[in-house]
Amino acid sequence: MKNPIEILEKLNNTHSLSIEEYELLLNNINPELMQLAANYACDYQKQYYQNKVFIRGLVEFSNYCRNNCLYCGIRRDNKNCERYRLRIEEIIKCANEGYDLGFRTVVLQGGEDFAYSDEDMCHIIREIKKAHPDMVITLSIGERDRASYEAYYQAGAGRFLLRHETANPALYAKLHPKELSWEHRMNCLKDLKDIGYQVGAGFMVQSPGQTNYDLAMDLKFVEEFKPDMCGIGPFISHKDTPFAKENSGTLEMTLFLISLMRLIYPQMLIPATTALGTIDAKGREKGIQAGANVLMPNLSPVSVRKKYSLYDNKICTGEEAAECINCLKGRVNSIGYEIITAPGNRAGFEKRVE
Ligand code: 5AD
Ligand code: FES
Repeated sequence: MKNPIEILEKLNNTHSLSIEEYELLLNNINPELMQLAANYACDYQKQYYQNKVFIRGLVEFSNYCRNNCLYCGIRRDNKNCERYRLRIEEIIKCANEGYDLGFRTVVLQGGEDFAYSDEDMCHIIREIKKAHPDMVITLSIGERDRASYEAYYQAGAGRFLLRHETANPALYAKLHPKELSWEHRMNCLKDLKDIGYQVGAGFMVQSPGQTNYDLAMDLKFVEEFKPDMCGIGPFISHKDTPFAKENSGTLEMTLFLISLMRLIYPQMLIPATTALGTIDAKGREKGIQAGANVLMPNLSPVSVRKKYSLYDNKICTGEEAAECINCLKGRVNSIGYEIITAPGNRAGFEKRVE
């Protein structure tokens, strides 16, 4: 059996390992291996994105959700969650304000809230595109029919974020209620890619019951599916969920996984997530230094921010969007990187279908 450094070098050269080899890397995580992985990762980050960090403005437009995922603070059964739903005009206004602040990507994210019909969603998308043709619209609204995904794409949405949460169907079943299935989630991801969206998958790090082998399966999934983006953050418990007492994922494992993902798919978009910034005051900076190249600050009205509580102690719930932008500029500059306002496609992305 090769040693971890040799395996890391193999990954750096071939962008592919067996699940067992990924697992061996994760089992042998240590500061030296993390640093080596980060160094290799930053070489690719520089090659494809220089020292540029993309920003996306996140509009969390509804915290109503028909789902009941065991880890999530806005799950249907959480009666302590104060629900809100932005009006259509408010959503469009947030996006337009984001444009004025320099954002060229807006992410419309919400629980699976069917109070917004497909027509509503298409209307929102068209209105934003009409005002700002150069704004890329990303949706993060969960599982829908293929026909709905197609309609949003036709209306002008260009990207879709749908985390796969875990590549292991057995773990997926432990984290989700019976109504949800891993196969359906995977089919949604395939449909989205097939329709032509730039697709973001993603997983939680060290969610309850997750082993390093499970995480190795996530890495293999990234290697094979090649999402345009992959968002990862530590699992963080939420007090009003069945996982209230579970431990959070660690900074170290999340950073190491970011670096490994950059080696697996060097052009991929990788966000330094809010969850990473929540478990460590410098988590997002460290994420960028490990190979991440995207930040997703919040554009939602401050009045609803605290209510979009997926996990406890989420950062940036009191700051206006402009404050977060300035804060992030300072943070990113302090580590020798620069925020840019380009739409920020995945390097090498070409429109998948006409
Ligand atoms: N801890 C960390 N991430 C979470 N998410 C939901 N709940 C939690 C939690 N408790 C993530 C999921 C989801 C994304 C929007 O937020 O991965 O896909
Ligand atoms: Fe929101 Fe720093 S990024 S306050």
